[in-house]
Amino acid sequence: MNIVKGCFGKTKKGETVTKYTLVNDHGYSVSVLNYGGIINEILVPDRHGIIKNVVLGYNNIVDYEENAPYFGCITGRTAGRIKDATFSIGEDTYVLGKNDGNNNLHGGFNALDKTIWNITEVVEKDVAMVSLNYMSPHLEEGYPGNVDIIVSYKWDNTNQLSISYRATTDQETIINLTNHSYFNLSGDFSTDILDHTLQIEADRFIQLRKDLTPEDISEVKDTPFDFRVAKTIGQDINENNRQLMIENGYDHPFILDSIKRPQITLAHERSGRKLSITTDETCVVCYTGNFLNAKFKAYDEVPLKKSAGVCLETQYYPDSQNFKLVPSKTLKPYEAYLTVTSYHFTN
Ligand code: GLA
Repeated sequence: MNIVKGCFGKTKKGETVTKYTLVNDHGYSVSVLNYGGIINEILVPDRHGIIKNVVLGYNNIVDYEENAPYFGCITGRTAGRIKDATFSIGEDTYVLGKNDGNNNLHGGFNALDKTIWNITEVVEKDVAMVSLNYMSPHLEEGYPGNVDIIVSYKWDNTNQLSISYRATTDQETIINLTNHSYFNLSGDFSTDILDHTLQIEADRFIQLRKDLTPEDISEVKDTPFDFRVAKTIGQDINENNRQLMIENGYDHPFILDSIKRPQITLAHERSGRKLSITTDETCVVCYTGNFLNAKFKAYDEVPLKKSAGVCLETQYYPDSQNFKLVPSKTLKPYEAYLTVTSYHFTN
C-alpha cells in the first residue's frame, strides 16, 4: 500500500489543492482531493485486467470550481434538498441558502463540496487511508452549531473503499453527509450507464414533488422503481411513469432493507466490473445523471451525454425535519454522528 501526493492546482482564492492517490498492492487506486473531499479517480480492472477510471470528474481545479455537478464530492452539511431552505429545531427556525430554486441543495452555495479539508495520511500493510477534517463554524451556510467533521477514505488490497463520516457539535443541529461520485463502470465516459445492471434491496421509495423535494412514500412493487431483482437502468427509465417523467429519470431516495447485504449492486456486463455497496444508512438516492450534458467535458475532452454516470448517494432520509412521514433526526451536543458506507469493486 502507498499514498502518492501531487499538486492539483490552486483555487480562485489561492488555496493549494493536493491530490492524494491511495495505491494498493495490485496497482489499483483511489484519488482524493483536499478540495471538497472529491474522489477524483477510481482506477480498477475489468475482467481482462485492463485498468480504467470509473468515476466522472476533471483533471483541473477550475472546472471543479466553476462547472461541476458535485462530481465526487463530500456533500453536506445536508445531502439533498431542504424544502423552502428552512428547517426548525424546537422553537428555533433556521434559514439556509436557496441555491436550487426555492430550496436548499446539498448544503448551500459554499458548502462542504467547496471546502478545503485538512488531510492526514495513514499507510499500513493492507490499508491506505486519508482522513479529512473540517470544523464548520456556527451558522455556516445557516446551520447551527460548531460542527467538527471527519471523513475518512480507506482503500485496501481487496479493492474496497470504505468511507466513514464522523461529526460532533456544541449545539443541536442537523447533518446528513454522503459522497456524490458518478459511476460509469465501463470507463468510457462518452457512453451512458443505461446498460449497467442495478440491484437495490428496497421495498419502498420516496416520491418527489416537481421541485424534487420529498412528498410521499410508495411501494416499489409493480413500478419502474423495483430494483429488487437486478435489471438494466435503462429497462424501465422511459416508462410512462409520472415520477420518472417529472424528474427526467431516477433521482429518488430508496428506503433500504435493514438485513440484506450488500444493499446495492451495480454491474457492467461487457467489462465485467461490478460495484457492491454496503451501508449502515437508511436510504440511497439513485440519481441517473439526468442533468448531465455536453457542457460537462470529463477530464477535459469527453463531452458527457445525459446519464453518463449514476450516483448512489447513501444517506439518512432527506429533509427529515420537514418531511413528516419519516422520523426527524438531529445531532445533539453529547452525541456522535457516525456512518460508514463501503464500495467493493470486483471483476
Ligand atoms: C443530487 C440530486 C440531483 C442533482 C444532483 C447534482 O443527486 O438528487 O437532483 O441535483 O445532486 O446535480
